[in-house]
Amino acid sequence: MKPVLFSLFGNASLLDAMQKYNKYEMREILFHQFPDEEVLVRIAADVNDRDVFFMARLDRPNSKILSLIFAAKTARDLGAKKVCLIAPYLPYMRQDKQFHPGEGVTSRYFATLVSSYFDGLITVDPHLHRRRALSEIFAIPAVVLHAIDSISQWIKEHIVQPILIGPDKESEQWVREIAEKIHAPFVILEKIRKGDFDVEVFIPTMERYRDHTPVLIDDIISTGRTMIKAVQHLKRQHMKLPICIAVHAVFANNAYQELISAGAGQVVTCNTLDHVSNAIDLSTLILGV
Ligand code: R5P
Repeated sequence: MKPVLFSLFGNASLLDAMQKYNKYEMREILFHQFPDEEVLVRIAADVNDRDVFFMARLDRPNSKILSLIFAAKTARDLGAKKVCLIAPYLPYMRQDKQFHPGEGVTSRYFATLVSSYFDGLITVDPHLHRRRALSEIFAIPAVVLHAIDSISQWIKEHIVQPILIGPDKESEQWVREIAEKIHAPFVILEKIRKGDFDVEVFIPTMERYRDHTPVLIDDIISTGRTMIKAVQHLKRQHMKLPICIAVHAVFANNAYQELISAGAGQVVTCNTLDHVSNAIDLSTLILGV
């Protein structure tokens, strides 16, 4: 029997693809919010002895997590054989160490929470910087998908003579690989983050790449400050208009507009989170698991 899939908190483009793909039996889940804002979960489908998947859009996670956990627990109580989470964007992964005294390592707490309610996880390019694998913090099997091939393909099809730029050390892991795949040069910048909106990026002279199109690549754009700083430096060096590519279009506040105003020629993201900048479709990758 096909696994049952519930889609939570939107992500229309992936949902469309899922409807066309005949892998899951798609069913509705109902969240009723009481006047006091407590929530009731109702699964009308028969999930007894079935594998159940929840595909959840988990940016801005705080208002969603409790409903997600209740949904998983409801499916389990209704007899689901396996309860798995498909989170194309996995939140809370950036706080992967205690940066300042007294701070909690929330990536670990979040992983413990998810591991207590789900039997498996499927995600795309989680922010793994100081950790090598999700298994260091998740106690459940996790399938980690990568957008590298799709991003490489997009660059190959759309950009003539790119110079790839990783805005910080962490980005080197995928920038190097993409550069190898498409035979393009690359540069990795240095970044110091002093606060949420206070980022400094150091860029070498790009003189010899004047004829190239700069392509900045990062996993997440959140406040946009990392990309904005890099774009400003490139502008000062009279480079061509840079293309900014990210896997996850988180875009806090007005980050997208600010990045365009700062001088990005184009902002391109994958559809792990629905956004107007989505141009790289990962539905086949995610549904292929
Ligand atoms: C952090 O290390 C990530 O790889 C991104 O560089 C970061 O999340 C981008 O954040 P923001 O858009 O807020 O500068």
